[in-house]
Amino acid sequence: MARINWDESLETGIYSIDSQHMDLVGMCNDFLDAVSSGKTEQAVNALVRRLREYCVQHFHDEEETMAEMGYPRLGEHQREHRRLSQQVKEYQRDLYKKRTPQPLEVRDFLKDWLLGHILGMDMKIAEWLKEREAEQKESKVVIGEAGEGESEGKEEA
Ligand SMILES: [Fe+2]
Repeated sequence: MARINWDESLETGIYSIDSQHMDLVGMCNDFLDAVSSGKTEQAVNALVRRLREYCVQHFHDEEETMAEMGYPRLGEHQREHRRLSQQVKEYQRDLYKKRTPQPLEVRDFLKDWLLGHILGMDMKIAEWLKEREAEQKESKVVIGEAGEGESEGKEEA
């Protein structure tokens, strides 16, 4: 049945973020399983609530991580988080009204909401981090080369 699969292409390389993303994927799949196996409305709603609560926690933690790293596009990312929180809140309300969510429809929503978010937004953090690391490595190489030159000079003397 419809599931969301986790694979390496979704990894940002930041452990705290990736582990929460994996939890989110797991929660989306629990929700999908419940919908496709015809679980009660109550059970489905409880899973959506859990997903929504966890997503609020995740956005909060992710924003803290970005602030600690000095990520320059934090403001933009925060706005997107607010939009995504609102989107899932509206979706939750729709589910209450509809009562019989369709598995494929749910999967499409979750894929767009979660994978679109991870790939679109969080991968930018990963790219920025890689660039920053490369820059730091470059400056270390320059310092390292100067150091080696000095020691060679001393040996010769
Ligand atoms: Fe995220």
